[in-house]
Amino acid sequence: MKIAVLASGEGTNFQAIVDHVKLGILKNVDLELLIYDRQNAKAAERAKREGVENYFLDIKDRYEFDRALLKILKERNIELVALAGFMRILGEEIIREYQWKIMNIHPSLLPSFGGKGMYGLKVHQAVLMSGVKVTGCTVHYVDVAVDAGPIIIQQGVRIDEKIYELFSQNPSKAIEELSRKVLRYEHRLYSKAIQLFADNRLKVESQVIETKEGKKMVNFVRVDYSNNWEEEWDKRQRKYIEFEKNWL
Ligand code: GAR
Repeated sequence: MKIAVLASGEGTNFQAIVDHVKLGILKNVDLELLIYDRQNAKAAERAKREGVENYFLDIKDRYEFDRALLKILKERNIELVALAGFMRILGEEIIREYQWKIMNIHPSLLPSFGGKGMYGLKVHQAVLMSGVKVTGCTVHYVDVAVDAGPIIIQQGVRIDEKIYELFSQNPSKAIEELSRKVLRYEHRLYSKAIQLFADNRLKVESQVIETKEGKKMVNFVRVDYSNNWEEEWDKRQRKYIEFEKNWL
């Protein structure tokens, strides 16, 4: 299955996908290319170092950007697009054309702490300001509303009291510490979602729900974990967790 990753910044999630492929954990997944939209994106350096084809899409206009992106995706027969720290909002046309074939990772348990303007460290700041005891990360399908597409998988991350103590003395240090902690789980979670997709284990189901305000259409992702899929995955991913320890 051919995938493209879209990134704007550091690219550590992109790196984690590369590592999962290199370690043979992600199976039947061909990482075709990285597309980036900021000249100084560190993700591009990573792609060059790793020998992954990379493409700088240097277009300001939203519609032109989407058109050019769509052209590349189609030409290359890309079957799944993974947004990894990609700081642009994609337009309706591309989302419809690639419906349920574009994923995104977000550093909180959506629908909490998501939406327009909620990205990167801002998310963790809002999390700590709220006083929640558990945060996490979410992989979801991209839909027209920002951070509101159907949720694929999530991972909870506990916030220790120590982080809150630090937050009261040095807020920016606490925000960074929490971001680093969540990021480690993002790196594991994204490849799991990609493998579930590649294994045809994800199905989006629409359901009409009667509410007091009237009928509402909701989309759910059903995940098929039958035949020990998750146990097998956890076993396979141990190799990455060992590998990750060496560079942390
Ligand atoms: C990640 O934490 C990702 O979840 C977040 O940006 C960071 C990118 O890191 N994305 C968002 O906040 C999207 N709303 P990376 O470039 O090192 O992968």
